Amino acid sequence: MNKAIQVFESISKLSLSNLNTPIEQCKRITKDYPKSPRLFIKRDDFIGQLVWGNKLRKLEYSIAEAIAQGADTIITCGAVQSNHARITAQVCKRIGLDCILVQNGEKPKVATGNHKVNLMLNVPIHYVSSREERDSKMNDVYNNLIRSGKKPYLIPLGASNAVGCLGFVNAARELKQQQAEMGIEFDYIIHSTSSGGTQAGLEIGKRLYGLDKIKIIGVSADNSFDQLAQSISSCAEPVLQRLGNPFAIDKSELTVDTNFVGPGYGIASKESAEAIKLFSEHEGILLDNTYTAKAAAGVLDYIAKGKIDVSKNILFWHTGGILSEL
Ligand SMILES: Cc1ncc(COP(=O)(O)O)c(C=O)c1O
Repeated sequence: MNKAIQVFESISKLSLSNLNTPIEQCKRITKDYPKSPRLFIKRDDFIGQLVWGNKLRKLEYSIAEAIAQGADTIITCGAVQSNHARITAQVCKRIGLDCILVQNGEKPKVATGNHKVNLMLNVPIHYVSSREERDSKMNDVYNNLIRSGKKPYLIPLGASNAVGCLGFVNAARELKQQQAEMGIEFDYIIHSTSSGGTQAGLEIGKRLYGLDKIKIIGVSADNSFDQLAQSISSCAEPVLQRLGNPFAIDKSELTVDTNFVGPGYGIASKESAEAIKLFSEHEGILLDNTYTAKAAAGVLDYIAKGKIDVSKNILFWHTGGILSEL
């Protein structure tokens, strides 16, 4: 394992974020449940200025690779309110790379949230009408840039690939250190999952850094177990190869809970609306409708129904996203 850790820690990354994001206990939200396990929250909503969230961890690796390859333009995609697309555009402006976005959905009449920031950054946006059209449009943009002598670098949806997910391998390394400092061991990580890179990185990181006790539960924001298991494996397999195959991750070892998607991607459910209310009123923590509120609905359901033993420590990983609500 040491060799694999060495290989991982030698991979170049940029320093874009305030890592070692705080871990805080949520005591007030659990007080009504006499048999509640201890609930903690990992505050990736504190990762940088302007509520950055989980994507910044991934971009530290993706953009480092782009720069190493001599890229001058980053192309990426997402929905019109994509956190990832906005964060990528913002990082590009910060470090002096061009950025082009491909976004599915209609150009909003009134700009809000992430979209409004994209307009302020003044990055070119290509709108496509469906999720399925994103990849072919990104390829067209890529090929046109090559023809015009530019050096584009393509980051897929959510930076969920073998490079981006390294950000969450690094997050597991960070967690190991924080556990030691806090004198605590977590039994569960519960987080929002969608394009799979966050979960892939955490699953690799937990094995690499010996956090074997932790069970990771991805609460789906949209996709089915099969879709997520496929995305997680396609992120993880090339990473494991790069690290010299220190272990394998079988699909049967993954836990994805699809019970909290509700009416659909980005649409509130009764449970997610309740989670937003409880976390803000009891803990002063803001959640977004699309991702973190669905995961929080899962956390609260497990606690309310006694699905996790009172002796356990849960870490709810807050992955950011609140800007899409504003
Ligand atoms: C705030 C937030 N949380 C969670 C996720 C899900 O992460 P992943 O796409 O790596 O599964 C996303 C993805 O867009 C996100 O923006």
